[in-house]
Amino acid sequence: MTNENTRGNLAAVILAAGHSTRFKSCLIKVMHPLAGRPMIAYSVEAARSLGVKQLVLVVGHEAETVREFLGHEVTYVEQAEQLGTGHAALQAQSVLQGRCQTVLVLYGDMPLQRAETLHRLVELHCTTDTPATMLTVLSDDSMGFGRVLRDANDNRVLGIVEEAVATPEQLAIRELNTGAYCFEAAWLWEHLPRVSLRPKGEYYLTDLVEMAAREGHCVQALTIDDVTEVQGINTRVHLAQAEAIMRQRINERWMLNGVTLVDPQTTYVGADVTIGQDTTILPNTYLSGATTIGRDCVIGPNTWIEDSIVDQGCVIRFSVIEGATIEDGVKVGPFAHLRKGARLARGVRVGNFGEIKNSHLGPGTKMSHFGYIGDAIIGQNVNIGAGTVTCNYDGQRKHKTVIEDGAFIGSDTMFVAPLRVGKGSRTGAGSVVTRDVPPDSIVYGVPAHLKTERGGLKPSEE
Ligand code: UD1
Ligand code: CA
Repeated sequence: MTNENTRGNLAAVILAAGHSTRFKSCLIKVMHPLAGRPMIAYSVEAARSLGVKQLVLVVGHEAETVREFLGHEVTYVEQAEQLGTGHAALQAQSVLQGRCQTVLVLYGDMPLQRAETLHRLVELHCTTDTPATMLTVLSDDSMGFGRVLRDANDNRVLGIVEEAVATPEQLAIRELNTGAYCFEAAWLWEHLPRVSLRPKGEYYLTDLVEMAAREGHCVQALTIDDVTEVQGINTRVHLAQAEAIMRQRINERWMLNGVTLVDPQTTYVGADVTIGQDTTILPNTYLSGATTIGRDCVIGPNTWIEDSIVDQGCVIRFSVIEGATIEDGVKVGPFAHLRKGARLARGVRVGNFGEIKNSHLGPGTKMSHFGYIGDAIIGQNVNIGAGTVTCNYDGQRKHKTVIEDGAFIGSDTMFVAPLRVGKGSRTGAGSVVTRDVPPDSIVYGVPAHLKTERGGLKPSEE
């Protein structure tokens, strides 16, 4: 059996139908976020990275959110009644029987499992003559896991005993069942229906190990000693512990990739974030969602960036940035708020208490002090004075403000949109601009009037 061949025929079944009552949540357990991604995403991604031909997710009836999140690349089978892990795996039989040679079974609440480890498990299975291979861990803390029973003479795996029914001698066993297995498909589908009901009212997947051993097979075990990898998440306390482990892994990965994290303990980088080399992240910074940070940036302290793109050489301090695009060399903050659709071209400067939403600021434009820019297109090298506001909302609809290149906006200018300010124009401090401003002109006053060449006033509409 070559690996190549087996891999082409590898399927994965992820069990995620359990009740998870201990989570006390309206949201199903596997959809709770871990480092910004629903927990289930990690086992799905790990399975995918092994090149599985088919991925089956066993879900309970309240699984709409999972389907919405994972989409059609996964086959869903419903376990209507939660009758144990063996019963859950059995639900995948009709979908997979005859379609693959090897089946990897994972529990959906173990997101810390590394793809490399699962890869080694599959390799071991495929290079050994056995119907079942399991992943075990050596640990002094039993974590409530089942214990692996071995023959005292030849050390062969004999079975798995659940903690609840283990004898004191069995409880002392340090080798634990993690809940990841690799099975020869034909053997699995033949034996799974034969698992008998336990007094607890459940069918245990783990009983297959004993079945194989009784048939004289040599069940293989890949034993690891990193307990953090196999922590199951049954409560929100476990979730927080897993979050800390995941955070550490992610942070170490970025540090090893050339990113400086001044204080990894207070640096929160989501699983889908990327960060360029020689960027420095200062304490208490959250980078989340689909965020990309370029090279040579300084981000933080106390900054939240979500679903945003930040190019090279940017400095962002004490700010909140959501759904924004920031080009090279932009400086933001302290205390700026960039909202969805904010696009700052290269060299833009947004200072304290500036809020920008759904607006494009052209190269070199400066908004150094407090103000609000919404639904606006602003050209290059525009200077936006302190307190400038685009009055974009009339109570019913949003309106657009266009400010062309080189304009100079006096402090405290109100733009009652829709309107356009022509190239090179200026507004006086405190102007309330209600109409278009022609290029290279000056307006001032309330409502703003055009300043004529002689210095007199002319209504701006003329
Ligand atoms: C299981 C193992 C135990 C192992 C431990 C590791 C069995 C009988 N025991 O125990 O040996 O040490 O995991 O974490 O397998 N599930 C379903 N449908 C069900 C029941 C469970 O889909 O009817 C899913 C759960 O959603 C979960 C996984 O199977 O993802 C494991 O179930 P859980 O009840 O947590 O098993 P443990 O008691 O932890
Ligand atoms: Ca569990």
